[in-house]
Order: sequence, then C-alpha cells, then structure tokens
Amino acid sequence: MIAAAGSGERLGAGGPKAFIDLAGRPLLAWSLAAMAEAETIGSIVIAAPPGAESRAAEIAEGVGVEVSVVPGGESRSASVAAGVAETAGEVVAVHDAARPLVEASLIDAVVSRLEANPELSGVVAAIPATDTVKEASVSRRVVRTLDRDRVWMVQTPQAFRAARLVEVYSRTGERELEGATDDAMLIEHHGGDLLLEQGSPRNLKVTTPLDMRVAEALLSEPGV
Ligand code: CTP
Ligand code: MG
Repeated sequence: MIAAAGSGERLGAGGPKAFIDLAGRPLLAWSLAAMAEAETIGSIVIAAPPGAESRAAEIAEGVGVEVSVVPGGESRSASVAAGVAETAGEVVAVHDAARPLVEASLIDAVVSRLEANPELSGVVAAIPATDTVKEASVSRRVVRTLDRDRVWMVQTPQAFRAARLVEVYSRTGERELEGATDDAMLIEHHGGDLLLEQGSPRNLKVTTPLDMRVAEALLSEPGV
C-alpha cells in the first residue's frame, strides 16, 4: 500500500508531492517501481489525492503488477486506513510515496521477516540515529538526552498482518489517528510486538526542497 495522498505543503511545489518531477519521473513512480520489483508484493493499492485518482492510475500503467487506486483522506492515517482496507494479502507493506529511493530488497526484507516470525505483528524499516537526540519541553527546555545506542529513526516500508492493522485502525479514535506519524505507533498503543529491520540512509523522506535536491543527487549517482 502506497500513501501518496498528501498535499506537499512543506515542499511548496504548488501541487501534490506525488506528482512532482524527480529525476525525470513523478515522485510516485519511483516507489511504484520498487514495489513492483519486490518479489513479495502481489498487488498494490495507492491512496491518491482525492480527485487525482486517474492521474495516479496513469503513472501506474504498465508497472507490471495489479494496481488499484483509492482516494486518500485528510490525514496520512486516514489515507493508509482507506488503502489497507482494499489490500488483498495476509500481510501488507505500507510505504510512503515520499520515500522514492526505497529499494525492492528492503520491501522484501520487512515482508519476509514478518512472514518468518509468527509472533510478530509488524516489521519496520529503521536506521540507527547518528545525531544525539534530546527530549525537550514545549518551551525548548531540555528534559533529557536519549541513549543514542537505542534510538532508531523509523522509515517506511512497514509490514503488518493486514487483519490486525485494519482492526487497530477501526479501534482508533479520530484524535489519535491525526497524531499518528506512522502505523507502527498504533500497534504499539493497542498491543503487538514489532521488530526493526535495518533500513538505509538512502531511503530518505522527501519533505522540503532540500530533500528534493539530495534525492536528485542520489538518483544521478546510484553508488552513493
Ligand atoms: N499522506 C497521505 N495522505 C495524507 C497526508 C499524507 O497519503 N492526507 C502521505 C504523503 O503522500 C506521504 C506520506 O503520507 O507519502 C508522508 O507524509 P508527508 O511527508 O507529510 O507528505 P505531505 O503530507 O504531502 O507533506 P506536507 O505535510 O508537507 O503537506
Ligand atoms: Mg504531511
């Protein structure tokens, strides 16, 4: 499932982020290609900006696997809930279109790890923190320094048991849904074991114009 329904306000490109050109292709096309290449993925559901479903479907044409498109919601969580409800498999990999440099091997890794471990509810791509991370109050007063050896920066893809994710979404209130920045948070809250899978620093999230420039540079230099 690809979450691609955001408006891309922080990128400020004057339209939804999913359709912005990145190194010659719409941003969404990169994640679609990786999903299609992944051996563990049987079909793809895209949550598109409402009203732009046909544009998303056009980008997905000829990608090589079955793709369906649903209108996304007001928040990322609402979009993921709408998309996951349409998926077909026992396991679903949720991925943000905003991470166009994802590799098929990482998608396969999170799905395979979940399939191999029946006790797990989800497997989440993440990389070890390289910065020192501090917790602060709203007025920026430092509360504590987190132990960096145990701090991980979470990415997508994240693989879940589809039925469990649908159930958790149905039990989550509007307020909590709006505050959820990833899907694993909801499993943490409602119960279920999650495992981190080593992601890649290349799998960066395109949020600002700076991120776009870094992504362009990495795509033109595949070895970096
Ligand atoms: N997303 C979504 N539906 C929403 C909001 C976000 O599917 N209502 C998706 C985005 O398309 C993106 C991912 O969730 O792939 C992460 O969101 P973010 O990086 O915040 O993207 P935008 O919401 O588009 O950006 P901004 O917050 O700057 O508007
Ligand atoms: Mg957003």
